[in-house]
Amino acid sequence: MRLDVISIFPDYLAPLDLSLIGRARRDGLLDLRVHDLRDFAHDRHRTVDDTPYGGGAGMVMKPEPWAEALDVVAASGPPAAVPHLLVPGPGGVRFSQAMARSLAAEPWLAFACGRYEGIDERVLEHAAARMPVTVVSLGDYVLNGGEVAVLAVVEAVARLLPGVVGNAESLLEESHEDGLLEYPVFTRPASWADGDVVREVPPVLLSGDHRAIAAWRHAQRLARTAARRPDLLTTAGATTPDGLAGAQLRPATVGDAGELLTLTRACWLAEAVANDSLRIPPLTETVETMTASLGQWQTWVLRSGGRLVGTVRGRTQSGGEWRVGRLGVVPDLQGRGIGRWLLARIEERAPADAAAFVLTTGARSEGNLRMYKRAGYRIVGRDDAAGTVELTKPPRRP
Ligand code: ADE
Repeated sequence: MRLDVISIFPDYLAPLDLSLIGRARRDGLLDLRVHDLRDFAHDRHRTVDDTPYGGGAGMVMKPEPWAEALDVVAASGPPAAVPHLLVPGPGGVRFSQAMARSLAAEPWLAFACGRYEGIDERVLEHAAARMPVTVVSLGDYVLNGGEVAVLAVVEAVARLLPGVVGNAESLLEESHEDGLLEYPVFTRPASWADGDVVREVPPVLLSGDHRAIAAWRHAQRLARTAARRPDLLTTAGATTPDGLAGAQLRPATVGDAGELLTLTRACWLAEAVANDSLRIPPLTETVETMTASLGQWQTWVLRSGGRLVGTVRGRTQSGGEWRVGRLGVVPDLQGRGIGRWLLARIEERAPADAAAFVLTTGARSEGNLRMYKRAGYRIVGRDDAAGTVELTKPPRRP
């Protein structure tokens, strides 16, 4: 990949000679060229800024040096090739892992590092007439210039290129790759005497039981994401169900138990009628058993306008399958695809190595069976005494 960076502080980019990025440059995986904007300013003082039209504080970067620098860079590649120009700035689109992935697939990126109050807007017009241009922001805060953003973007992009990071597997299990934060990691000693406190590594990590470790790590990722970045959980899976704009899917808490009980009874009463049986576990739930279940399952609640309108839960069972359960939608909102939407969300929460998705429903619950079959499940077993069927679906694989 080729990278060109234009800046009035070329030395700011020196860290790109270090560590994995430096090695990738030396190995020829990255062709990174840093240009001094002042080389394109031709007056005696090599001036790159001037006062803003319309007044206001600070200085604005002049158009002529920028246009010349961009033209020289753009003309230095193979015939007909142009770079994708990234202009760091707090007013840009938010940089993300998804953007890093998409940029890593491009052959040539160029960066225009603004300083002061920014670059004359006509430079963006000049560039956009010649090459794709994206204004990109690291986050909702203001830096003194684009150089720090370039360091961040180049590192995030370059490490995704084949050969830059030695262990490619380590790229897969990282924060933001699948919408969840990373699980906590530990190394020796297993028992660390930290002054007068002994800090232990979680025992499951010493157990050698890989399934148990995977389940623990997945639960940690969910808990950590819920605690630190709940916004990721509500946006994972992107949309809200059709017709429920503004609805929010969140991990259930003890405070939800009472409403969950009411929702469960309302939903499973129809199951009792359809299957001609009151011996259905969800109908015998109490607020205590419901509360206890929250510690044993990942339970999710969907709220719309403050009202609890749906729920679903999942957990890894002993054979490594991801068991889905208690999928329920309030009676007046059924038939709108909300159940199917909740099913998709809980499937997304399964560990990447889940052996299969499994669930149980009433043998005569025709509406449920139709929905599950449409979602890819098939019946693999029956419990005639309980009047239930067992369904399974192969897990998604990337
Ligand atoms: N330049 C100044 N502030 C910035 C930000 N938040 N992101 C990217 N570049 C910037």
